[in-house]
Parts: sequence; C-alpha cells; structure tokens
Amino acid sequence: MSKINCIGVLTSGGDAPGMNAAIRAVTRAAIFNGFRVKGIYRGYKGMLTDEIVEFKTQNVSNIIQMGGTILKTARCKEFQTPEGRKQAYDNLVKEGIDALVVIGGDGSLTGARVFATEYNFPIVGLPGTIDNDLYGTDMTIGYDTALNTIMQCVDKIRDTATSHERLFFIEVMGRDAGFLALNGAIATGCEAAIIPEISTEVDQLAELIQNGFRKSKNSSIVLVAESPITGGAMGLAERVKNEYPQYDVRVSILGHLQRGGSPTATDRILASRMGAAAIDALLEDQRNVMIGVHNDEIVYVPFFKAIKNDKPIDRTLLKTLRTLSI
Ligand code: F6P
Repeated sequence: MSKINCIGVLTSGGDAPGMNAAIRAVTRAAIFNGFRVKGIYRGYKGMLTDEIVEFKTQNVSNIIQMGGTILKTARCKEFQTPEGRKQAYDNLVKEGIDALVVIGGDGSLTGARVFATEYNFPIVGLPGTIDNDLYGTDMTIGYDTALNTIMQCVDKIRDTATSHERLFFIEVMGRDAGFLALNGAIATGCEAAIIPEISTEVDQLAELIQNGFRKSKNSSIVLVAESPITGGAMGLAERVKNEYPQYDVRVSILGHLQRGGSPTATDRILASRMGAAAIDALLEDQRNVMIGVHNDEIVYVPFFKAIKNDKPIDRTLLKTLRTLSI
C-alpha cells in the first residue's frame, strides 16, 4: 500500500444533520494524525470540476452545531459514467489527494465503491442519511435528528387533529424504508405506521380499519413512509375517503423540513466517533468499508454489504406500536 499523505473529504446525496460534525471530525482527526486534508465541494461534482480547498483546523471551527453541510452536496450524473470518473480521478491526482472519506447515503457509497474498484483508490465511507437504511450500522448520521423533528411536527399536528376530531395521514421521508415512520409513530403515540417493508404482505390500511380503529378516540394519526409501495399519504387518504366516508381525513407531508435543523447530541456524537474512526480505518489500511456503529462499537462494513443488503426493520416494534395504540 502506498503511503497516504492527503485525504479528501466530501458530502454527497441528500444532506443530513450531523454531516458538519462528521466533516469536522474527519478533518481534525486527520490533521491530528499528520495528514493533510482537502475539502471537496458539491460531492462528486466538485471532484469533476476541481472545487477543492485545503482545510486547516479553523475551516471546521464552529460548525458542529449546524445542520446541512458546509461542503454543499449534489447528486452527480456524470460521475456515473467512466469518462466522468476519469476526470474526477485526474483532479484528485492533480490535487495530491491519495485517499477519500465519502459522507453520504446509499447512492453515494455505491459511487464510492465503483470508483475505488476502478482506480484502486482508498475510500472509507460514513453513513450520512436521515433514512437509516444502510446495512451494518444501527444508526446513520442524521436519523436521530430527523426523528426528533418528526416528533415535534406530529405533536403539533395532534393539537389540531384532536380539536377537529380528524384522521390525519402524515407522510415522512425514508425512501422505501420505514425506520422514520415506525419509530416516529411510537415516539408520538400514533395509531399506526404504514411502511413499505410489510406492504406486500398485508393490506395495512384495511387491517387498521378492521381492528376497530378509532373506536374510542377523538383523533387519529397514521404515519406513512414515502414510497410508491405504500401509496404515500395522499393515496391512502383517497382510499379512506372513498371506502370510509364517515372519516374526516386530512394529509400532511413533512417533506424537506425533516432534513434540516441543528443535529441532536446523539447525531453529533455519532458523527464525531465515526469521523475519527474513518481516519483510524485508513491508518489501519482499511479500504472500501463504511464505518458503522453496532451495539455501541465501531465496526467496518464492506461497501458491498452496506449497500446491497436490505437493512431489516425490527418487527417487534410493529407489535409494540399495535399494543400501545388500543
Ligand atoms: O435520502 C434522503 C432523502 O431525504 C430521502 O428520504 C428522500 O426520498 C430523498 O432524499 C429526497 O431527495 P431530494 O432532496 O433530492 O428530493
């Protein structure tokens, strides 16, 4: 293995609260261990267009508490082509960058895997996504903050839902994963969560209504994971309006506000631990791995496992939700 001198760091895909804490940790741990660090702006796009700046410890001062990402982020189509990746590689060589830390979700780590294989380039990934859908880590950076944001929003919607005695379908993010919906529902005392993981097994809406839904309650809230598989909050609300016209139904789509805000302590600590672990991994000659935390311990998850394996939802949580929503 050739010796690493300079590490590039970038954020890619959907931003997530805690990405700044991760950038800070990567930068400071790298400098602490004698590496130079360069910040790459706008994800893989910045690798192609050479938007790369040397980072000192001061470049990451006062950012641990900020949402979003100071490095900006993008989803880059050109990086999916061999020509685009060649241009990116040439820029890394020009900048003297000989290892990368990529902070992002599924798509970003897929790009990292392809690039690392094609150019035999050392890359370590950090799971940065509110969706919590990467296999091998108990939590991704940004998930806890998004969950808390959902909790605050649902608590507010409950006030008006109760006053008007309405049934609300609230759609949350997750891109085909039900972690935010299911845990958000438990945290806010919802009647149910409609999630893609079990949508093909049961008609969750029919089951909900048949189980005597709303018998003794003057408002009901159902969290729905965004996904064509669930039909989304709009689709379900339409179904209820047609099939059960007695209900006064409303929809709220929380959307991108779930991605913003100052990271929680949990996300700041997770991002700081993972950022420092990424540098440890490079020092140990690890390549093509995502840093995860499992049972409160740092683990190295090969990219192919993190990306390809579907992260299973804990089905006992569904039972808990059902038990507690009587
Ligand atoms: O991957 C994070 C995520 O927030 C998903 O939950 C969501 O489907 C997607 O990004 C939205 O992406 P965009 O900001 O490009 O609309």
